[in-house]
Amino acid sequence: MFSSAPGAFQTWTSPHATSLCSSPSAIMIEAGLSTALTRGDLVLPQMSACSSGTLCRASDSAMLGSALHHTRVSLQLPSHAPQVAFARRYFTETKLTANKCLQRRFSLAVRAVSQQNSVQQLDSAQLSNGSSVSNESCKESINSALSVTEKLRPELLYVQPKGVLPLSSKDLESPVEREAWELLRASIVTYCGNPVGTLAALDPTSPDLLNYDQVFIRDFIPSAIAFLLKGEHDIVREFLLNTLRLQSWEKTVDCYDPGQGLMPASFKVRTVPLEGDDPLATEEILDPDFGEAAIGRVAPVDSGLWWIILLRAYGKCTGDYSLQERVDVQTGMKMILKLCLADGFDMFPTLLVTDGSCMIDRRMGIHGHPLEIQALFYSALRCSREMLLREDGAMELLRALTSRLSALSFHIREYYWIDLKKLNEIYRYKTEEYSHDAVNKFNIYPDQIPPWLVDWMPDEGGYLIGNLQPAHMDFRFFSLGNLWSIVTSLATFEQSESILNLIDSKWNDFVGAMPLKICFPAFECEEWRIITGSDPKNTPWSYHNGGSWPVLLWQFTVACIKMGKPELAERAIEVAERRISKDRWPEYYDTRTGRFIGKQARLHQTWSIAGFLVSKMLLKNPQAASWLTCEEDLELLEACSCLLENNPKRKGRTKPAKKSKFLV
Ligand code: GLC
Repeated sequence: MFSSAPGAFQTWTSPHATSLCSSPSAIMIEAGLSTALTRGDLVLPQMSACSSGTLCRASDSAMLGSALHHTRVSLQLPSHAPQVAFARRYFTETKLTANKCLQRRFSLAVRAVSQQNSVQQLDSAQLSNGSSVSNESCKESINSALSVTEKLRPELLYVQPKGVLPLSSKDLESPVEREAWELLRASIVTYCGNPVGTLAALDPTSPDLLNYDQVFIRDFIPSAIAFLLKGEHDIVREFLLNTLRLQSWEKTVDCYDPGQGLMPASFKVRTVPLEGDDPLATEEILDPDFGEAAIGRVAPVDSGLWWIILLRAYGKCTGDYSLQERVDVQTGMKMILKLCLADGFDMFPTLLVTDGSCMIDRRMGIHGHPLEIQALFYSALRCSREMLLREDGAMELLRALTSRLSALSFHIREYYWIDLKKLNEIYRYKTEEYSHDAVNKFNIYPDQIPPWLVDWMPDEGGYLIGNLQPAHMDFRFFSLGNLWSIVTSLATFEQSESILNLIDSKWNDFVGAMPLKICFPAFECEEWRIITGSDPKNTPWSYHNGGSWPVLLWQFTVACIKMGKPELAERAIEVAERRISKDRWPEYYDTRTGRFIGKQARLHQTWSIAGFLVSKMLLKNPQAASWLTCEEDLELLEACSCLLENNPKRKGRTKPAKKSKFLV
């Protein structure tokens, strides 16, 4: 299947990719033309066709030539000789004129493998012959390929322009990964013939679909990243453009119209009768749910934020920035931003939302300023700042966005951060302070410190609390909010390190038998009754109330890679890999350490599958984590210190303001 994006490069993937990849004795030969561009896996179609001597169609070759020209290409071939011979012919006999040198390199590499297969030494004459037409690096590449093939079993070779690396078993897809790809592909939804998203779940055991047969915006993000990592960009592009069209849909809850710019929580492709004379004619339509049908009528605040984050990732991955520069895409982004930045009654730079407005889409006591939304909000603002075109109409918005970013990071870093020292400060807080210089600005009563936290908080490490309101700190640890604060540099570098240290030191609480706890700890007894409204799905240590969600693995992996601790993610993935496929990819797990499959968990939950795949692929290709991460922005820090210094209420103070930790 070929796909082309205007102004971008082309990629090609065989519909047989999965079956070829699943060959355990696959030989992988990879050549890189440009490390700046991302990896696009290229798999030869129907290798078995070689036995009948069929070569690829000429048009395929031309496309292939073009793909070779623009992107990194990998070949995965079953390792028995006739197929290798076919590969050799493919590269030497087809009209690959786009890049002679690369063609030659492939041909030599394939020959080397072929020779090795029949336990022969490669003829040195062939080598010098090859190197005379190519460049020095090609010669080196083949030389080292040979030295490796002489020593190693030839099943696995990794040929790069710079040399040859033997692939470790880590670099191959495990059987669990192969199963995950099959399931992920099975969940793909098409609209007018084009893939546009993935179903939330394809549970073979549950007849009660509820809305799990829809494409959820937030659920599709790990699927999208998995497809991007695989070099299959079209589905992501189609998703971005089709959901954009849904944004301006007419939406009503009874007789009220929610704000323009809202992105739906999910959508479904429906086939409806076509208006006209033909009673049998039908058409497909996209039917969005903005929360007006969702359980509890919850507003999907996170959808638009994730959409912006994905738009940037798509650009970074494909190099196709023309998509984000399109007028309709810029307008859609601005609509989301305007909705988020609209003035209200808020006193804080954090986004004020109702309960259940994100992944936790039921009543769980997270109304107000939940960390997860703040982290996604910050991330979306950072992404938009990169993507918004510097045009007349956008300058005001850019200014608003920049000052919000500064204020938001100051607020979160200062007031959401908790560690042993801060806890001790709160323990000794004075209350009812009326002044601009109050230490206890939010009038937190020390008695609010929950007993579990006093013993649980380690000497080293800390985290961002779940929510902050007047006289209220939600001390629960929410994984997604903390992880995404690391990913997007909402937390300082030191805070980010402390969060990962905390997860490491409290491994059993966060990872246990299945990564990753959605929040810690659970509400129990009276608290559960009052705060969840006695929700039977959210009983203690189940679902959103302290359940364990495999999907969170991918955000954990991105955070670990960003902080230079991939081994932490590896450990968690190992835990998941031991049982996730046997358990049939549940949506979530129950009990304090995640030992049981969730009471009402769907099986074959797509984002559990995709989250696992993304984690595995990112560990093999860690630089791709930068599609999602943001680094510390000194300009924003400076803007924040200027704002604080120029505040007239602070100017007249006799004592200088205590220097904020994060501004130094
Ligand atoms: C549940 C989850 C929500 C998810 C949806 C679809 O409602 O709480 O986060 O998007 O299922 O999987």
